[in-house]
Amino acid sequence: MTVQQTIDPGLPAGARATNVGTAPVAPSDVAVLFEPYRINAALQLKNRIMLAPCTRCRALPGLVPTPGAVEYYGDRAGAGLLVSEAIMINATTQGYRDTPGIWSPEQVEGWTKVTARVHERGGLILAQLWHLGRLSHPHYSGAPPVGPSVVPTEGLIRSTRSTPLYHVNPRELSSTEIEELVAEYAQCAFNAIRADFDGVEIHAGNGYLPEQFLRQLTNRRTDAWGGSAAKRARFPLAVAEAVADRIGAERVAIRLSPAAYFGLMSHTPGDEDAYIHLLEELSKRGIAYVHTGIIDDATTYDYLGGTSTEFLRRYWKGTLVSNGGYGPMEAAQAIRRGTFDLIAFGRLFIANADLVERLRSGAGLRPYAREILDTLS
Ligand SMILES: Cc1cc2nc3c(=O)[nH]c(=O)nc-3n(C[C@H](O)[C@H](O)[C@H](O)COP(=O)(O)O)c2cc1C
Repeated sequence: MTVQQTIDPGLPAGARATNVGTAPVAPSDVAVLFEPYRINAALQLKNRIMLAPCTRCRALPGLVPTPGAVEYYGDRAGAGLLVSEAIMINATTQGYRDTPGIWSPEQVEGWTKVTARVHERGGLILAQLWHLGRLSHPHYSGAPPVGPSVVPTEGLIRSTRSTPLYHVNPRELSSTEIEELVAEYAQCAFNAIRADFDGVEIHAGNGYLPEQFLRQLTNRRTDAWGGSAAKRARFPLAVAEAVADRIGAERVAIRLSPAAYFGLMSHTPGDEDAYIHLLEELSKRGIAYVHTGIIDDATTYDYLGGTSTEFLRRYWKGTLVSNGGYGPMEAAQAIRRGTFDLIAFGRLFIANADLVERLRSGAGLRPYAREILDTLS
């Protein structure tokens, strides 16, 4: 049995702790990061810096966000746009301890306090909508994991502050259940708007449910939801369309991991065709942005013809957000070269709530360390 043990939720095995980009940089060298950026009429950013979605494992009973979440996001409102930690769309998809949801009135109420604080401080915030598919665990809700197909999972669930748990094999979703899940994403997007989020980011990266549909390893279906590239792309596309119908395309974004780098995933030749189809279809629909999900975007892949971000840029025609191991200097250079439009920082922003202010003043940055997660509330 392969054992996958990782240090953080959201980080694959062997991910290096980052001190990339912590040395002071002259504000003039990264000035492009401070430029306002207009994604569309609904999302006008005061700068090109985003907070990457980072799971905090801190929800209250009922999976309601904590008062600490109000502080955490409020303290990072200097970013042009914040993306929340991944937020579950239903109770049966849980795979980590204390992750929040957005299906109940109490959860919506909790998120309203978070968005109010961010808005008070002049920020914008999207809710990242999450279904773990085969990576959920019955330890939390009693429900077995679900996926496009019954493909065995193996290894440890990665987790902080929790007993290690072994993955449980998923059961196959029926086509009716797939339609119901699409509707749940749309309902939770509507809930996010009720909680005054500025929009949603569909989490279709890091090996979670939408990616499980895109890839041949995990999608063995022969019905309308599997087989050809177009059919494998159908689930994430259906989710994006249903959510856009409910809240408006300009408030919908999506995160994709074309590199199969995480979440018990591996690449099968031809997987990229489903991504190309999806990106071409999304380009016609005017959603807000596509966001790279990768831990180290310096890595190139033959099957992508370059880095994850370069691949996405080739097929997606709108605003592109990159992420993954960047320091401010590398991000500024890449934006100036036109490789992408906006940069999301994860670990640097966890370690430096005042990241934007520090960059503006030329101060050095505190390096990320896993222990910082233990200080969150
Ligand atoms: C503690 C932690 C939690 C994370 N949780 C999420 C998550 O909820 N959703 C997601 O899409 N990515 C998640 N990630 C991945 C980050 O968004 C980002 O892709 C990764 O940290 C690489 O970017 P960085 O080098 O700027 O940190 C997480 C990363 C960390 C370190």
